[in-house]
Amino acid sequence: MGGSLIDSHKRVHRSLRISVVDKCDLRCTYCMPEDQLFLPKKDLMTREEIETIARLFVERYGITKIRITGGEPLVRPDTVDIVRDLIALHVKVGITTNALSLHKHIDELIDAGLKSVNVSLDTFDAERFKKITRRDGFRIVHGNILLALERGLRVKVNMVVMRGVNDDELLRFVDLTREHDLHVRFIEFMPFAGNKWGRERVYTYSEMLGHIGSVHSFEKLDDDPHSTAKAYRVPGWKGTFAVISTVTEPFCGNCDRLRLTAEGKMRNCLFSRDETDLLTALRNGEDLAPLIEANVLGKHAMLGGLPQFKPECEEEVLHDLSTRPMVSIGG
Ligand code: 5AD
Ligand code: SF4
Repeated sequence: MGGSLIDSHKRVHRSLRISVVDKCDLRCTYCMPEDQLFLPKKDLMTREEIETIARLFVERYGITKIRITGGEPLVRPDTVDIVRDLIALHVKVGITTNALSLHKHIDELIDAGLKSVNVSLDTFDAERFKKITRRDGFRIVHGNILLALERGLRVKVNMVVMRGVNDDELLRFVDLTREHDLHVRFIEFMPFAGNKWGRERVYTYSEMLGHIGSVHSFEKLDDDPHSTAKAYRVPGWKGTFAVISTVTEPFCGNCDRLRLTAEGKMRNCLFSRDETDLLTALRNGEDLAPLIEANVLGKHAMLGGLPQFKPECEEEVLHDLSTRPMVSIGG
């Protein structure tokens, strides 16, 4: 076969997110349980295996965008080589990082051809950073965001907004866009295995806009049709901000994303219940194409088949339905 990966809801898939490692040098509470176990190295895709699978997605199925995620991709020693391999496939390549070690790799990454980074940062308060990530590092991460800007990378900052944890810092993040040409994304807190999600902890899209609107006027910007984020700008400011409203206003209708976990399991949604083991098949010399095509065809219309996060759905049900912690799926 070949051609595009089109699911039973007529969505064409152009974007692949590849987790290259499930480990991380932070322990964000919303992403992983404290006692998370990590995969042995032999279970991870090798650099060559990543290249082989990615090439198939690009050359046979017309994938045009690849995002490298983790865990934290920069804790893997050969991530820069992987970036180089993927850029050589002539697709748009991005990386999502906590930026804790970005200063050590930024030269090589730029040299490899990387143009943009997505950095996770949830607070401007060093003590609060320690609480959220269970590690120290605010100063370094903040410095590395500025470094990335200085070095000409396009920068997106991801903030997971949690009620009672950091919802009082929204305006501080919007302020970043006054002086810097960067893009801040406020993400509604999503339920994953082991992250103690509760509906009352979700600071909603409409609350965010109300909060920001109480101080600034802002204008709506055009969104890319496949974008997960709804973008805005305070008129005259250099940067922009957006909200990712997975919980209160999911945007599954034009989703074009597929995912590969660090151990080579394909998922058609962040909230999938099913996975397809591409790595074992590759190691056994099997043809991956029918597996990939079947996986795409099994994609649910919305949220991996989860009942929408509507108030009438039992909280426990939503919790149980999410199969993995975020850290082992890959943002
Ligand atoms: N809810 C919302 N966003 C999350 N991320 C990780 N876990 C969650 C969650 N429970 C985000 C992080 C990171 C991106 C990969 O996913 O902010 O930037
Ligand atoms: Fe690590 Fe990112 Fe998860 Fe935080 S959110 S623990 S930085 S993978």
